Amino acid sequence: MIRRAASEEIVDLAGLTRELHALRDEAVAAARSAASTSELEELEVTLLGKKGRLTVVLRGIGALPAEDRPRVGAIANEVQAAMRAAFADGAATLRARELGERLGAEAVDVTTPARPVRRGTLHPVVETANRIAAIFGQFGFQVYEGPEVEDDTTNFRMLNIPPDHPARDLWDTLYVDVPDHLLRTHTSPGQIRVMQSARPPIRALLPGRCFRYEAVDASHASEFFQVEGLMIDQGTTLGDLKGLLDQFAQAMYGAGRRTRFRPGYYPFTEPSVAFDVECLVCGGSGCPACSRTGWMTILGAGMVHPVVLQYGGIDPERYQGFAFGMGVERIANLRYGVGDLRLYMENDLRFLEQFR
Ligand code: DAH
Repeated sequence: MIRRAASEEIVDLAGLTRELHALRDEAVAAARSAASTSELEELEVTLLGKKGRLTVVLRGIGALPAEDRPRVGAIANEVQAAMRAAFADGAATLRARELGERLGAEAVDVTTPARPVRRGTLHPVVETANRIAAIFGQFGFQVYEGPEVEDDTTNFRMLNIPPDHPARDLWDTLYVDVPDHLLRTHTSPGQIRVMQSARPPIRALLPGRCFRYEAVDASHASEFFQVEGLMIDQGTTLGDLKGLLDQFAQAMYGAGRRTRFRPGYYPFTEPSVAFDVECLVCGGSGCPACSRTGWMTILGAGMVHPVVLQYGGIDPERYQGFAFGMGVERIANLRYGVGDLRLYMENDLRFLEQFR
């Protein structure tokens, strides 16, 4: 039956119905046969999309005479629902299949050898400082830390080094702002900070980075590490200091090492000494490494000057103490046979990887 519609288009009710059913069958078949979710999505757009073929057919309904519209409308709704359901089913089936394929393809082979883990190591200077701390730790020394940017008062004055004192020439100083703040030239100001924060008996170890204005070469660096030690108690003597340092030298360099005290000078200790260990290279007979003396100086030490105790708030009539300070690189050099300080700062893995 052919009717003339208001729009002058010829619309055939039976034909429209057939077309709708054909579209539905096509959608059902397509949803079954699509090879992938993306192919299915494309088909869904061409059939069901806003500008798809169903929309085109539905537009024809408006051209039908009013009495026919409800019937075709109902068929159209059914067809649309059937098409949506077909696509939804198809999509679910495809997703499941694709997931299965992916899981199959990406399966983890647990027998594959693992990639090697690149393990880092402690820097030889840090490792040496740790070793020093572990040895003194056995004698009850606790680790403290002081600031790298110090004030002039703590770095010098309270260590009995007033402004313009010639001893300042021993420390070529890098100032942060003149004259009050500087990069600490040694770890000795840590002594003052410990005395101000702890009461005797004190056994403190202060490892840390120090800075000096140096012309850099194999044996001079503008940045280096020291470990400072401080012990304060009643009746502490130079004999205690010597006994402790002897024990340290044996632990660090092996039992039976000969050691000696030589007189020295530091403004913050009185008396002051240099502590030597028999040359680790030649064993004492004399060689270039020990300037043919048979001895190597590994640290400076002495009895804490009464003025320094007073600056630290400790009564020198009641308490005595000793202090020592050593350069960590120097000790690491002797342990590992390193001949050039600059190697420690260059971060060259060929050097660093040797300390595993
Ligand atoms: N602070 C000294 C320096 O940098 C080392 C030192 C010497 C530390 C004697 C001490 C000491 O505690 O008693 O050269």
